Amino acid sequence: MDTITVLQRAIRLRDPHTAHHQDRVAAMSAALGIQLGWDAERIEQARRGGLVHDLGKLAVPVSILNRPGPLSSNEYELIKEHPIFGVQVLTEDQRPPSDVVMIIEQHHERLDGSGYPNHLVASDINESAQIVAIADVFEAMTSRRSYRLENTLAASLDELHAGRGTSYHGDGVDALVALIEGHALDEAQDAWPILPVDDVKYPWQDSP
Ligand SMILES: [Fe+2]
Repeated sequence: MDTITVLQRAIRLRDPHTAHHQDRVAAMSAALGIQLGWDAERIEQARRGGLVHDLGKLAVPVSILNRPGPLSSNEYELIKEHPIFGVQVLTEDQRPPSDVVMIIEQHHERLDGSGYPNHLVASDINESAQIVAIADVFEAMTSRRSYRLENTLAASLDELHAGRGTSYHGDGVDALVALIEGHALDEAQDAWPILPVDDVKYPWQDSP
């Protein structure tokens, strides 16, 4: 079993909600790569990066990640460290860093420097990480969480459009719109197994 699969399985056991999010982000990222005309190797790296992009959330208690109520500023700062925690797991044996590592580290960076953890600007952000960032934000906005309801598709696209070229990769936003208009996103997701929402449970939820 390869490293990404092992990590993915560990995350699924510990935090099925994050695993489910990652599955969907991986499928969307690959679909965006296809739409952008990337070669097969780069698409596969984006998919694999998507599968473990929130790896560092292993260092954040699940009770914080999925709390319905508000977080303290310290708890929010801890969550914002997850790209750094994730890189700590993988970089030892990967020099120079692969796209997968860059995706883990940079998927919350934004083109104008407003992201985290390193406030990088466009020219310093790995392009695959920029594309996974779009999939990440879109998946998060269109999904229900313990602390909020999902946005509509239209509202989510409006938000991405508002940040087109300032927060988000311009061609990537256009590619997402094209995928949705062509319904290609559904087909892309069918290509990889995605846990149905109703099956997202914590191990202890089945215990007596
Ligand atoms: Fe993340």
